[in-house]
Amino acid sequence: MAKVRSVFRCTECGTAVPKWVGRCPGCEEWNTLIEELDAETRGPSASLLLGPRDAPTPISDVDVADWQARPTGIPELDRVLGGGLVPGSVTLIGGEPGIGKSTLLLQAMSAIADDGVTVLYISAEESKQQVRLRAERLGTLQPTLWLASETSLPHILDDIDEIAPTVVIVDSIQSVHHPDISSAPGSVAQVRECAARLVATSKSRDLAIVLVGHVTKEGGLAGPRVLEHVVDTVLAFEGDRHHALRLLRAAKHRFGATDQLGLFEMTEDGLIGVPDPSRLFLADRRKGVSGSVVVPTMEGHRPLLVELQALVTRSPLASPRRSSQGVDSGRLSLLLAVLAERAGFSFADTDVYALAVGGVKVAEPAADLGLALALASALAGQPLPADLVVCGEVGLGGELRQVSHCDRRLAEAARLGFTRALVPKLGPEPPDGIAAIRVGTLAEAIDAIGIRPDPRPARERAPSQDPAPEDHPF
Ligand code: TYD
Ligand code: MG
Repeated sequence: MAKVRSVFRCTECGTAVPKWVGRCPGCEEWNTLIEELDAETRGPSASLLLGPRDAPTPISDVDVADWQARPTGIPELDRVLGGGLVPGSVTLIGGEPGIGKSTLLLQAMSAIADDGVTVLYISAEESKQQVRLRAERLGTLQPTLWLASETSLPHILDDIDEIAPTVVIVDSIQSVHHPDISSAPGSVAQVRECAARLVATSKSRDLAIVLVGHVTKEGGLAGPRVLEHVVDTVLAFEGDRHHALRLLRAAKHRFGATDQLGLFEMTEDGLIGVPDPSRLFLADRRKGVSGSVVVPTMEGHRPLLVELQALVTRSPLASPRRSSQGVDSGRLSLLLAVLAERAGFSFADTDVYALAVGGVKVAEPAADLGLALALASALAGQPLPADLVVCGEVGLGGELRQVSHCDRRLAEAARLGFTRALVPKLGPEPPDGIAAIRVGTLAEAIDAIGIRPDPRPARERAPSQDPAPEDHPF
């Protein structure tokens, strides 16, 4: 009989059984058993996980010389990492398949290898040939960038021993497996065990390791949420696959702040940093169209101007459709209710569509007033002034609250040529070049820009027709 090399341990009570069962015999909880290597099989590698004893040191004597971040050569990535990759750290980069994780890392590793640093790229999903061809396409073939198309964890650890790299990429952690664990690659058991070994290796060798993790549509790392606890840094690479824009954020970062945003554009030549994202977001904007508004949002420390669009159509449905992309659906419902109750704009017989342009997500309450005005503008068929930006949080009473970093938001708007800002009563003076229109409630805001609710029910209205830009009242 084959030797039992793994056990199934209950995540609730710790009971171990040799075979998977649905219900833990110890605590009688359901579906709590996860496979792991048993202590015996771990043998010498168990002590590797433990590592040597670390003697206590006075805080002032702790040597941090080796903990300097190494720049990756990709400024937008270094911005999010707070300087670069730290030796002895493990970074997890998560994102949906096809978003560009492999491309980003190949570019970054090529740039690091360009300095003569030895980098090992474990390509567990693609062949070496595929990776080489991609590197050629990106115009970078560095001899100190080593490739291995490997999925077995013990082999990967051997490769690390042999090459002694400074940085290792494992693309992806879900494709790597430990042969002593019978669970499939990508399962919690496999991912947890493989990641734990790699973390131990990183610490013992002062090696910077980057793990790639695919995330599901719902945003969780497929299976291995467990990973987030064992790594030092978690980066999320996001964006709409149909748009070129990619956003990189840190969800967890032991070496710095998590509020930096990196922006890239996916092009024929790989990922290119976007130094002026607001300009990119507004590049295709048509002025004088109803339902469109520009909101200055904050992404970490970075102000970003984003266009929100709303479209309102007559609904044949008893319970009309509300559809949103890039804006929170709960916030949309809330604002529709406030518009109806506090400002006389009823959407009861209309379908409502709301969109943040460019594949970005606008989740801040600071965008409330902007979204509400986009909705009101769409319902009334009247455009907002083209030189106006809007920020403010809307309360259930229709009252407006001031937002954080208002000065930085408005400075960004002024830089891009906007001259007026609709803002709540309280708040700092706007920067030069932009005039503040101060309002206390949503109804006052709607009044201030001259939008009137159409008193007729939607079914009696002609399909909304926007005035040509020259007829535009502003
Ligand atoms: P990839 O890095 O393979 O994504 P992931 O590793 O996150 O699954 O990138 C996939 C997409 O990027 C693919 O659809 C092709 C596109 N792409 C470009 O548009 N330009 C390029 O230079 C490269 C390398 C990829
Ligand atoms: Mg990939």
